[in-house]
Amino acid sequence: MKIHPLVVKANGIFTPGYPVHQKDFFSGREDQLQRTLEALIAPGRHPIIFGQRGVGKTSLANILGESLTGVSVVKVSCDGGDTFATVWNRVLATASITFKQHAFGFQDTEAQKTIALGTLLGHDPSTTKPAEIAGLLAKVNQYCAVVLDEFDKISDTNAKAQFADLIKIVSDTVPNMTIVVVGVADNIHELIGQHPSIDRNLLQIELPLMSDVDILEIFASGLHKLSLTVDNSVADQVPLLASGFPHYAHLLGFAAVKASVNNNTNHVDVAVFDMACTLAVQDSIEKYRDAFSKATATTQPSRYPIILSACGYADCDTRGVFRATDVVDAIAKVFNDRVTVQAVVPALGEFTNARRAATLKAVSVAGRKCYRFSDPMMVPFCRLKARELLQALGN
Ligand SMILES: Nc1ncnc2c1ncn2[C@@H]1O[C@H](COP(=O)(O)OP(=O)(O)OP(=O)(O)O)[C@@H](O)[C@H]1O
Ligand SMILES: [Mg+2]
Repeated sequence: MKIHPLVVKANGIFTPGYPVHQKDFFSGREDQLQRTLEALIAPGRHPIIFGQRGVGKTSLANILGESLTGVSVVKVSCDGGDTFATVWNRVLATASITFKQHAFGFQDTEAQKTIALGTLLGHDPSTTKPAEIAGLLAKVNQYCAVVLDEFDKISDTNAKAQFADLIKIVSDTVPNMTIVVVGVADNIHELIGQHPSIDRNLLQIELPLMSDVDILEIFASGLHKLSLTVDNSVADQVPLLASGFPHYAHLLGFAAVKASVNNNTNHVDVAVFDMACTLAVQDSIEKYRDAFSKATATTQPSRYPIILSACGYADCDTRGVFRATDVVDAIAKVFNDRVTVQAVVPALGEFTNARRAATLKAVSVAGRKCYRFSDPMMVPFCRLKARELLQALGN
């Protein structure tokens, strides 16, 4: 079995399962990138990059070093079992020789070795104090940044408080050092906790859902790099389907390449894109495919797939909350199918059931029952499913 060279090449451009690592492949987010870079050279300013799952936080963090010459960056990912000391041990193990020289003042031979935190401090690392880390970083002789990705995963509240203390000490005493905190959160306090003493040292960098323009750029510029052209009518559909999640722009781009290869064409028209959408559903994250089939499985033919996929198009507020009537309207708009609220409400109730993967959550707004997706990345999946259903219905 051979893989077509264009598909091989597409793997380096469309990466639905892999964050961006190079600036050349990074679309949009100019404002957030600019503000973060400015903080890297501003004494006492520490960016907190936050947003919902999958919006591109890691990708932004990955390109910081490449985007600003003269700043040495080390990036580590935190996990649920981390303490203050284990994170700093990881920083020491991950840091480049240059970073160790610039940030810790290590000599050449020392910088080439991996030195454990305990050895460096001369005591059991589990009792490491923020002031000791600040002391190690005091040798900084150039702009340096430590990026702590997946900070939301740290469950040890003491560790989070120690990082806040460290930010305070570093702000006051180590002007060339920046701590960048990155993670899933609705606001910075959810990520790092309430610490009034560091409020003015934290720079909020919120990553909202991606704009339609940026989503389209990922899709269209990726195809362009592969010398494929695309119909305007197709390009118009991509932002709507992806609904702000760059993962889906990559998924659709990759699927469009595969569909073009299968059709022996270098132009993505509507027919090729139809096929691409089917491939994209097949290649979607297992979790979403599973949730959709669990939610809509019935022994008799039912409207469940139509109702759930239309939820992806329901008018909602900024928190993604919608009402049953919004779903009725979406069914009329997308499927040209008239159903009553009474027909939809039992299905929506079922979708909140754990037995049906609890795809939706029931929420009360001003005493009225409303709904939202348990995982917002289910929205674009439902939109893809709606498209697939429409194709099956011959529309
Ligand atoms: N600015 C961008 N330009 C192009 N692709 C992007 C951009 N940002 C993110 N992506 C793509 O979107 C997907 C998700 O990105 P990333 O992993 O950075 O998000 P995240 O917010 O860190 O996710 P998580 O919350 O799961 O950690 C990846 O496929 C990545 O390649
Ligand atoms: Mg991430």
